Amino acid sequence: MRGKFISLEGGEGSGKTTAIHFIRQWLESHNISYILTREPGGTPLAEEIRQLILTPREEPVNNATELLLVFAARAQHLAEKIQPALDKGTWVISDRFLDSSYVYQGKARGGDTKVLDQLASWVVGDNKPDATLVLDVPVELGQERVVQRQHQDRLDKESVLFHQKVRDGFLECASADPLRVRVIDASLSLDAVQKQIEDQLMQLSKTWSGDE
Ligand code: TMP
Repeated sequence: MRGKFISLEGGEGSGKTTAIHFIRQWLESHNISYILTREPGGTPLAEEIRQLILTPREEPVNNATELLLVFAARAQHLAEKIQPALDKGTWVISDRFLDSSYVYQGKARGGDTKVLDQLASWVVGDNKPDATLVLDVPVELGQERVVQRQHQDRLDKESVLFHQKVRDGFLECASADPLRVRVIDASLSLDAVQKQIEDQLMQLSKTWSGDE
């Protein structure tokens, strides 16, 4: 049996790290073998590409350059880490994946959806996540959490308008594909957020065990 592939998405400061910690505990309590990974990154080469993408720099980064770098990292990540794990029956939990490209490089940067579709079909093909959890928070709340961080990357430093487009973009992904993309209201208390994640994981694992 091929493993299940779950991606976690959300704007800056949406609480992905805490959510991943909780998902990990859930997987362990259900004796599911899994790997945790992230994008951009996940392999040594893809992590080097991540640095190229996220390091703040003087030179303006061209939109096409940014787009191609995220897909270059993704090609490596899929070939070297995600596909081999799924083939072994291991579940893959990725902190961000393809939806981030549609949202950041597409919606927020104004990238052409047709180009994104072509890259997605070439690089990702059928390896789309089986499920995606979007952690949704109002931009102001996300930004409040991010400013408390010591280190801010090149994209954290983007404008409020950019981050608003990111939030809208993820909500659009959920409306376009509600079966795969589930929205978690991450502005609530920690317990309430974890409860929503747990409900989604229970629902998904029930659906998937019916597929066997
Ligand atoms: P994060 O993992 O700490 O959220 O940082 C990753 C950053 O990379 C985040 O700002 C979103 C951005 N990103 C893209 O712009 N496009 C992508 O396809 C992915 C996976 C991430």
